[in-house]
Amino acid sequence: MSSISIRSLNAGYGTVQVLHDVSMHIDDSEIVTLLGTNGNGKSTLLGVMMGLVRPTEGQVVFEIDGRVHDAAAMSTEQIVEAGVCIVPEGRQLFPKMSVEQNLMLGAYRSSARSMVSRTLQECFELFPILKERRSQAAGSMSGGEQQMLAIGRAMMARPKILLIDEPSVGLAPIMVKRTIDKIQELKEHAKLTVLMAEQNLAQAIRIADRGYVIVSGKIEVNGENRAELENNALIQKLYLGTS
Ligand SMILES: Nc1ncnc2c1ncn2[C@@H]1O[C@H](COP(=O)(O)OP(=O)(O)OP(=O)(O)O)[C@@H](O)[C@H]1O
Ligand SMILES: [Mg+2]
Repeated sequence: MSSISIRSLNAGYGTVQVLHDVSMHIDDSEIVTLLGTNGNGKSTLLGVMMGLVRPTEGQVVFEIDGRVHDAAAMSTEQIVEAGVCIVPEGRQLFPKMSVEQNLMLGAYRSSARSMVSRTLQECFELFPILKERRSQAAGSMSGGEQQMLAIGRAMMARPKILLIDEPSVGLAPIMVKRTIDKIQELKEHAKLTVLMAEQNLAQAIRIADRGYVIVSGKIEVNGENRAELENNALIQKLYLGTS
């Protein structure tokens, strides 16, 4: 069982406040999408959740298998160790290292290390292309393959909670669809709780149970289901060019 609770969070960089009183919850086994156009604070929020940006107020609480963790009091290593992993914006692969080496680097969580060969097999089953290309340099893979690798690398840590920052960015429509489908498959296979930041509304809501919209660091929409997101006037204005 795993869940996330974000309570009245304020955070930013130096004197610039980016997040304003953000509250959200992601329950066990949900896929929740965080929608927002460029520069509205999606990555900052995920950064706070990973201990990379420190909040000035509020809390991020993870509950994982009966244990409660307060992210503000933890290092990034401790957050990963607790079972939270991120597929970062821009993938952040090691381009000169092979696909398999990149995957192995994901297995640094101590509880994942003893199961590394089993997880690698599971990863290859979910992403056959990574098995086929296991010796190829990560940087010579296509954008879509690199996104699969970034997701596979997070899977190697055997997380309970997965944060994904804009998986569709820079991909052709067919690869966006495949990537989003794989996220759902992985979520079901590994019994994950997922928060996915996205700008691609249509693709995100194919797999999301519900979602939030962040505008200038504030949660402006809390859509309890897909229909509520699709029919929301602000979302129509932001994403569909209608009002
Ligand atoms: N390291 C940083 N130092 C100072 N300001 C930052 C830093 N990172 C982000 N910001 C600012 O914080 C605001 C929110 O940025 P953030 O990256 O969280 O948005 P985003 O929703 O992820 O955007 P995108 O869709 O472009 O990735 C922006 O105004 C940005 O310029
Ligand atoms: Mg971002």
